[in-house]
Amino acid sequence: MTNSIFQEVKKELTNGTSEKGHPFRYGTLGTVGVDSIARLRTVLIRNVSKDLVITFYTDRRSKKVTHIKENKKVSLLLFNPEKMLQVKIEGLGHIRTDMESLDKIWESMSPESKLDYITTQPPGSGLKNPEMLEYLTEGNYFCAIDIHPFKME
Ligand SMILES: Cc1cc2nc3c(=O)[nH]c(=O)nc-3n(C[C@H](O)[C@H](O)[C@H](O)COP(=O)(O)O)c2cc1C
Repeated sequence: MTNSIFQEVKKELTNGTSEKGHPFRYGTLGTVGVDSIARLRTVLIRNVSKDLVITFYTDRRSKKVTHIKENKKVSLLLFNPEKMLQVKIEGLGHIRTDMESLDKIWESMSPESKLDYITTQPPGSGLKNPEMLEYLTEGNYFCAIDIHPFKME
């Protein structure tokens, strides 16, 4: 990747976290665990640091966390249809364990956003009625994942 393209991609990635409606707000995260099947899903990109560490939030009971524990190598695909710009990122996923930073994020979240991380049933459970979700009265399954890229196309 030439330096000017790299700088544009970096700018787009950073803009994705701050500009409403930016197509890089969401990415497709690919993981491969011991089952050897690539699993893809949409994630909301929360932060891109100056050194391009990409952060998203999740429930620590989710399959993606299991996969990252089994195999840190992940892929992230982003696509901007207006610019016809596709970015393929390969990196190492790190499950954040620093409680101070996790607590700081947790405290800054709205009560509504917190609901995603306090369901009694883990993500992917079969639900008879999605309107009848039950929530923990204390504790949470909130977790942040940092992707440290080693390749970008
Ligand atoms: C628009 C959109 C945004 C999403 N953002 C996230 C996210 O930031 N983190 C997350 O864990 N799941 C997010 N999800 C749900 C995932 O795509 C996925 O269904 C869920 O996390 C379970 O994935 P897994 O079982 O492969 O871990 C989002 C789904 C949609 C449709």
